[in-house]
Amino acid sequence: MNDLRQRRKEDRPFEPTEQQARASKTSTFHISARYVLIFSLILISSVVLFTFLNKFQFYFNNENTFDEQYYPSEIIHLFRKYDRNYDGHLSLDEFEALASQFNTKKQSTDYIQPILGSDQLVTINAFFQPLNYSTMSQSVRHAYLGNLDELHSLKLWTQPFIPRLNFAARHFKSFLPKQIEIGKPYWIIEATKQQREEHISANRYYPPDVEDDQVIFHRLLSMFHVRPFILSRFPPQGTAAVVRARYGPFLDIYFRIHAEYQLNTPPYHPFWYTPGQLQGRLVIREDASELTYFHMYLPTEKRLNIDMEWLTNVGGSAPSMEVDIGYMPQMELRSAAPSIDMNETKTSPEHFVSAVTDEMYEKLLNSFNWTTEEFLDEKSTYDLLERFFYPFKEVPYYEYRRAFKKAEETNKLIHAIILWVLESSAVLHLLREHFVSTWALVVDLKAIISNQTNEAIQDSQRAKQALDNYAFPVESIIQQPDGTVIAKINANDLLNFESTSEQFLNIISDGTDLPTKRYIHFLEQAINRQN
Ligand SMILES: *[C@@H]1O[C@H](CO)[C@@H](O)[C@H](O)[C@H]1NC(C)=O
Ligand SMILES: *[C@@H]1O[C@H](CO)[C@@H](O)[C@H](O)[C@H]1NC(C)=O
Ligand SMILES: *[C@@H]1O[C@H](CO)[C@@H](O)[C@H](O)[C@H]1NC(C)=O
Ligand SMILES: *[C@@H]1O[C@H](CO)[C@@H](O)[C@H](O)[C@H]1NC(C)=O
Repeated sequence: MNDLRQRRKEDRPFEPTEQQARASKTSTFHISARYVLIFSLILISSVVLFTFLNKFQFYFNNENTFDEQYYPSEIIHLFRKYDRNYDGHLSLDEFEALASQFNTKKQSTDYIQPILGSDQLVTINAFFQPLNYSTMSQSVRHAYLGNLDELHSLKLWTQPFIPRLNFAARHFKSFLPKQIEIGKPYWIIEATKQQREEHISANRYYPPDVEDDQVIFHRLLSMFHVRPFILSRFPPQGTAAVVRARYGPFLDIYFRIHAEYQLNTPPYHPFWYTPGQLQGRLVIREDASELTYFHMYLPTEKRLNIDMEWLTNVGGSAPSMEVDIGYMPQMELRSAAPSIDMNETKTSPEHFVSAVTDEMYEKLLNSFNWTTEEFLDEKSTYDLLERFFYPFKEVPYYEYRRAFKKAEETNKLIHAIILWVLESSAVLHLLREHFVSTWALVVDLKAIISNQTNEAIQDSQRAKQALDNYAFPVESIIQQPDGTVIAKINANDLLNFESTSEQFLNIISDGTDLPTKRYIHFLEQAINRQN
């Protein structure tokens, strides 16, 4: 498979020379000190904005690597070992020596966590409604009419892999922090620096073996599909949690998971299915001996919540990569009832506990007495976790319509999010000083546009101007409070895929990377254009 490498080569960006950059260092943009209301907006059609942009960054950063350097060194090492005649290819003869191992690959169901007589047993039920196909983008739908339908597995995925499963309460011990501190987020599954920066190869089908204390996450995620990857390939990655409150010996823990699924197996190309995030809550005794409540779900309040990426043969020699987004109405796990004592109830580990009603559960959760003063509400708890995954989110982002109101109130600039670009302190400074930030999905804007009532007409017109200036996949737009678009930049240009607008490349040179320079230029341009 030369797919991704192929793509990276094609997308080789323009590399400015150091000299070019230095030569023009003197001409810098003057930022008007006048505060003007400018509105910056990133229009995207990807749910998992950060994942999406990270992918771009990845391709961008990997352009000038040789094929071999792209592969993890352990893979190269293994390959060389079995490529016994060193010709750079595995012959059938060389493959035969390996073949037996392909059948011993660990299955999700191989992770056995016994439930003992001394345990408290809890039944977890899975709820699942498949992806709504009509929410997928039109533009790529024609692409899957090839001879091998890469969406085959997606179409067959109409129910959870395991509808209900019993656990012991102590299996959930991995959710607990090493040290209990209310309101302090902690990592449960954390990507290494290498995994964050180099990203994990998409050319895989089977999840890697997981460590003992991560088996619970693998098993929970397996209830939806047999091939979960508990660490997604691109940031945001991993699992973090925060103790929201304590009730006596019980802890109320909120968590957020960025994991993904591989839906295909050979001969189909890999198909990656990435939920925007999974979040949830559990109420557990601090020694993990009892589990009162467990809930984990895909948030569904956004209009799109799934990111998909796959390779497809559409004629031609090399496969091409397709990306799409969609909406899945339900992907949810819930405990049927609080955990029960195996000894006392004389149940067997195979016996499923029938579900208590929502009302009963609610009453039970309310009956806990709130003993902590450092009590956080649910929203601020999830916000804490969000900022933990994206530190630059310290700059607040507003919903589209609210952002305009905010801009009028505060006489400030607004800025939107672009990842590693946004991690630049220069960009953050500009945003903080001059912009009010928001981001919106295309579907969100379309909904705003369609509201033509008197009170909403102004929002509708502003949203229309933004949408008229949008191009796939991500567009950063600066609007004045009256809606006039005064600057825009497309992610492809920002990351320099076939970009022709290079005239500003030499304007700023301070050792920062190219996309960051472009973004600073983009923001300054808007400030200078404001009237
Ligand atoms: C439950 O039964 C097991 C074995 O019969 C015993 O070792 C354990 O102490 C009992 N636990 C409780 C909580 O009674
Ligand atoms: C799928 O999405 C479309 C467009 O948003 C909607 O009209 C339709 O009702 C949805 N179908 C289901 C089964 O939810
Ligand atoms: C909660 O508080 C009430 C009144 O303060 C008390 O009657 C009740 O027993 C407490 N419940 C628990 C579970 O501690
Ligand atoms: C249209 O906008 C008005 C004012 O914001 C709001 O009250 C109304 O609910 C909106 N209508 C729809 C269909 O969203």
